[in-house]
Amino acid sequence: MNKTLLTSIVFGLFAIGAAAQQKLPSQWEEKAVDNARQQMGLQIKAIESDQSGRVLNPVTVKADRNTTAYCRYDDWRSGFFPGSMWYLYELTGDESLVPLARKYTEAISEAQFLTWHHDIGFIINCSFGNGRRHVDRDEYEKVIVQAARSLCSRFRPGAGVIQSWNVDGNSWQAQRGWICPVIIDNMMNLELLFEATEITGDSTYYNVAVSHADRTMAEHFRPDGSCYHVIDYDPESGKVLHRNTAQGYADESAWSRGQSWAVYGFTVCYRKTGDRKYLDQAVATLSFMKNHASLPSDGIPYWDMDAPGIPDEPRDVSSAAVLASSLYELCGYSVENPKEYRQLADRIMMSLASDEYTAKPGENGRFILMHSVGSIPHKSEIDVPLNYADYYYLEALLRRRNLDK
Ligand code: GLY
Repeated sequence: MNKTLLTSIVFGLFAIGAAAQQKLPSQWEEKAVDNARQQMGLQIKAIESDQSGRVLNPVTVKADRNTTAYCRYDDWRSGFFPGSMWYLYELTGDESLVPLARKYTEAISEAQFLTWHHDIGFIINCSFGNGRRHVDRDEYEKVIVQAARSLCSRFRPGAGVIQSWNVDGNSWQAQRGWICPVIIDNMMNLELLFEATEITGDSTYYNVAVSHADRTMAEHFRPDGSCYHVIDYDPESGKVLHRNTAQGYADESAWSRGQSWAVYGFTVCYRKTGDRKYLDQAVATLSFMKNHASLPSDGIPYWDMDAPGIPDEPRDVSSAAVLASSLYELCGYSVENPKEYRQLADRIMMSLASDEYTAKPGENGRFILMHSVGSIPHKSEIDVPLNYADYYYLEALLRRRNLDK
């Protein structure tokens, strides 16, 4: 990028942020957007100043907790930073962000051909899916459709599900004895399939999404509305072989981010199909979370709702951000108490926007939010910033603003 243009963009983002700080906005929402501008301005500056020739894609921090770690295009988290750029643009109207958002989005376009894991939905829908509102639609829609084709290559008709992870050689998934593991997170990949049917008119993608959602609804949930993390299937007969966790405390516990993925994923299924049963499932899991004795009063869940050391367990801000974003969507549907949903979402967002969870500009690897958890059982990313927490936080800010319009 032209150096003068970069300097003016970064200076502009700082200047706006600094001015906002001086006038000390009383509204938390205004302050939250200003803070996001500052942190992402710094992140952009680091990316644009890098001399390696790569387009850096920030994902979390390294062990020192301040050096930014980056990911490759095939990492499940590669779509979140490009997606955050599109959301920041929508939140601020700052046109200088568009070429940068395009650049970061198009840098991961190779992901449309990924077939070795299920996260193509996360990757492409968050980046190209958001970008297509602002650029040449045809170009981005081609990527979305190719990505949907790649995702469908993982559909196992005997079980009616999309296989989440491969179980190769001596991988940790193989060591667990799984054959066709499906994780609740996979619900988040379905939006891409619905979009592909809307673009092409080909119902294949829609049918795969509905089959996966129906089987997940039948197998992943407990009577109290909570969900298992991993269901392992026999891909031929469709028989359930195992009900386990990978990232939660125990097979029978409620891993918080998994619960949030379920609420969000089934809300999307309701939006795309109009089928009430999906809305009821989202509400059931949401009610489980909302009424759980371990949910703190600030609305930010512990990493697992049944973690044994609560209250001395890490929180998971990413789970809270995903939940808040779903709540802003859910409160627009015919649910029993939309006001209560809106209040819970606002409570979560005000907590996230406070100094307790929002980092000071320049700290926290230049990510907006602190205190997320990747995977405690894998001893990985504990109490750190994560780019998907920021992504769903920005999405929630935008959804809130759109509701208020
Ligand atoms: N999809 C992986 C996670 O939620 O950690």
